[in-house]
Amino acid sequence: MNVLVVGAGYVGIVTAVCLADKGHNITCVDTDEEKVRQINSGSCPMHENGLQELLARCVSGRGTLKASSNYNGARDSEIIFLCIGTPCNSRGRIDLSYVKGAITDIGTVVAKSNNHPVVVVRSTVLPGTMEEVVIPLLEKSSRKKAGNDFSVAFNPEFLQEGKALHGFMNPDKIIIGEYDRRAGDTLEKLYHGFPAPVIRTDLRTAEMIKLASNAFLATKISFINEIGNLCKQLGVDVYQVADAIGYDPRIGRMFLNAGIGFGGSCLPKDLSALVSTAKEAGCEMKVLEAVLSVNVQQVTRMLEIARKRLGTFSNKRVAVLGLAFKPETDDVREAPAIAIIRQLLVEGATVQVYDPLAMSNAKKVLPPEVKFCKNARQAVSLSDCVLIATEWDEFKNENLYVGKLVIDGRRVLDPDKAKRVCHYEGVCW
Ligand code: UDX
Repeated sequence: MNVLVVGAGYVGIVTAVCLADKGHNITCVDTDEEKVRQINSGSCPMHENGLQELLARCVSGRGTLKASSNYNGARDSEIIFLCIGTPCNSRGRIDLSYVKGAITDIGTVVAKSNNHPVVVVRSTVLPGTMEEVVIPLLEKSSRKKAGNDFSVAFNPEFLQEGKALHGFMNPDKIIIGEYDRRAGDTLEKLYHGFPAPVIRTDLRTAEMIKLASNAFLATKISFINEIGNLCKQLGVDVYQVADAIGYDPRIGRMFLNAGIGFGGSCLPKDLSALVSTAKEAGCEMKVLEAVLSVNVQQVTRMLEIARKRLGTFSNKRVAVLGLAFKPETDDVREAPAIAIIRQLLVEGATVQVYDPLAMSNAKKVLPPEVKFCKNARQAVSLSDCVLIATEWDEFKNENLYVGKLVIDGRRVLDPDKAKRVCHYEGVCW
């Protein structure tokens, strides 16, 4: 099929490359000329396991993927995926300005098309956005009628950074929210052969499925963090508790790793958006509001533990190991480490950091006084305290920390082994 992917961000590139690998003809459109140039030269503009190799194969080897900064030549597209970022504004609402701009451009492609294209939104949006914002805008800019002249669907992604290729190729479900039957049929054809149940719903239901899914994952994390905080107080190991309760298939072991909480581009944003939408609808979300506040509290707890041990952060040298919001990514969006470092600086600490992958992204958001070290050992040496914020494999070596004060935010170290070589404490163990 001829597929246009609008937006060469994380979701867009993964979607484009994976569909190209399945043999479809993909054009990826982005306004960023540099990204377009990079993709066309076979180089991936961001880090994701395995993506560079696959992208290079699709661009040069098979020639099924190309990028463009304009819509010339998009007229033959049978499917148009919208994969533009939806950041949160200061009131916790999803900011649709980029989506609206792209939808208007897509409308002009639809206007010129003779083959009844299917416009598919993959960006995360609030329930009602497709019907109230996307379709009216598409109809206005194309001067055509949705359902008659073109089709519309919402097809959320559930990709986890670091595992996105595997997640795309082996989804646990494929959700198709359809405005018209033809949209659903076309997408079902596109996903033919994927080993997953296809669930076809209306647009609003699909929009809610995505948000509810992320809200539930966040809830599991804050739940176990709260249990962990109590466990620590009572001298119980929360990881043994999580392992045991996780055997119950109704609970499941995944997303029960206690620590400094969730970050990333999705969980915090989607949860805030859901809570503020509920507020506007006059519906209180007590559980989800608590999930957010427990998440903020975990970062505070880590700082409190370290402050108590050091007396004060003022003029202390604090090493922060791990800057990415989780391992196997260079993404620092909403990373607990970033919040921790900012607070350390406010309290007068000297901060020295290391991350195997996320240093250059972190440099863009952290003040210049932060010292970026060339490896973990350099960051740890000459520090008064070490805070572990991301569970990278290379931090799992107790010998790195001999004699140091170590506060572990991710259960990177085995507490018994660690206590033999350093002054070790976990955030909730
Ligand atoms: C998430 C969802 O998992 C994915 O389905 C959605 O499409 C996008 O958002 P991602 O942002 O890549 O994916 O990260 P995820 O692996 O879900 O981790 C989110 C955060 O939760 C990380 O900061 C991680 O460290 C934290 N986490 C995860 C925990 O603190 N404990 C856990 O047990 C699991």
